[in-house]
Amino acid sequence: MTISNVGIVGCGLMGHGIAQVASQGGCEVTVVEADADALEKGLKRIDGSIAKLVEKGKLTAEAAAGVRNRLHPSTRIQDLSNCDLVVEAIVENLDVKKKLFADLGKITKENCILASNTSSFPIGEMGDASGRPGKMVGLHFFNPVQLMQLVEVVRTPKTEEAAFAAAFEFGKRCGKTPVAAKDTPGFIVNRLLVPYLLEAIRMIERGDATPRDIDTAMRLGCNFPMGPVHLLDYVGLDTTQFIADGWEKRYPNESLFKVPGILKKLVAEKKMGRKSGRGFYEWEGDKPKA
Ligand code: CAA
Ligand code: NAD
Repeated sequence: MTISNVGIVGCGLMGHGIAQVASQGGCEVTVVEADADALEKGLKRIDGSIAKLVEKGKLTAEAAAGVRNRLHPSTRIQDLSNCDLVVEAIVENLDVKKKLFADLGKITKENCILASNTSSFPIGEMGDASGRPGKMVGLHFFNPVQLMQLVEVVRTPKTEEAAFAAAFEFGKRCGKTPVAAKDTPGFIVNRLLVPYLLEAIRMIERGDATPRDIDTAMRLGCNFPMGPVHLLDYVGLDTTQFIADGWEKRYPNESLFKVPGILKKLVAEKKMGRKSGRGFYEWEGDKPKA
């Protein structure tokens, strides 16, 4: 099955990047947001990213115009009726996602592949909610989508082989290296990464080291591109809390998944990290303040 018409639901931190790389791969892309303001914000991000790529000589002005022309913004989910694939990238809340997939199951054509970019929830439950579990996969991209080379392609026991293979090919078309993963908590990367991020928060809570020293230690001691506290703010503290909350509820005896108190406190204070200008760090645009 060839994927040419793609729908992306959610044009936030992840959705805008997925829409962009799908368009860079030559697909026609309908991007659906909850409202016009959020849509405009997402499109501005895409414009900013495309401008950076042109400025660095990684995309010609002509190719950039093509990328933008293949993007079709909308606030109506009904506009996804002709899609071959729909990728969901909305808030990390399983009930909200299930409701969306139930709607997508009714709106999209029968052979449309349905995908979630969830960081942590079971793909199988969303597939069941859609009424088309055979067409359901996970397509887990990484932040920032434009630069990160990996995509995890997740299959459930009910995923049809053809749907999985088409999603895998789509990952390549977006310029990514796909890996196959099973429908387990956190798939491959987040099963390892999220406990590490939560452990960095526990280190701050215990007063073992400052955020800046933890970040310097992991950058210079392990050659990680950014330390864990910086990465937490970069990913979004709200998203990290949603992931950990879901796992703590499902696996109450797993100490690695416990939600640290400071994380809950910062999110309650609306300090989400980069997206709100304040998290563990204060942010100026894309960088934490020195
Ligand atoms: N679009 C296009 N170009 C971009 C861009 C974007 N969105 N963002 C940055 N760039 C460009 C910059 O202009 C810059 O270009 P030059 O090198 O040509 O000057 C280049 O990319 C590097 O950017 P920066 O100088 O701003 O920063 P950097 O060198 O520190 O690299 C980074 C940034 C790639 C994000 C790097 O810090 C990194 O790899 N960090 C770790 C990211 C990571 O771990 N992501 C996974 C998060 S977890 C996840 O995604 C899963 C989940 O479910 C939560
Ligand atoms: P975000 O808050 O930046 O964006 C979510 C967007 O979805 C918002 O713009 C919101 O307006 C929109 N939205 C919410 N409900 C909607 C609906 N019913 N219809 C249309 N649009 C709707 O969040 P994000 O960081 O982009 O995360 C999105 C998903 O990607 C989550 O499942 C998250 O776990 C996952 N993810 C996040 C990261 C990360 O680093 N932030 C990395 C990989 C995967």
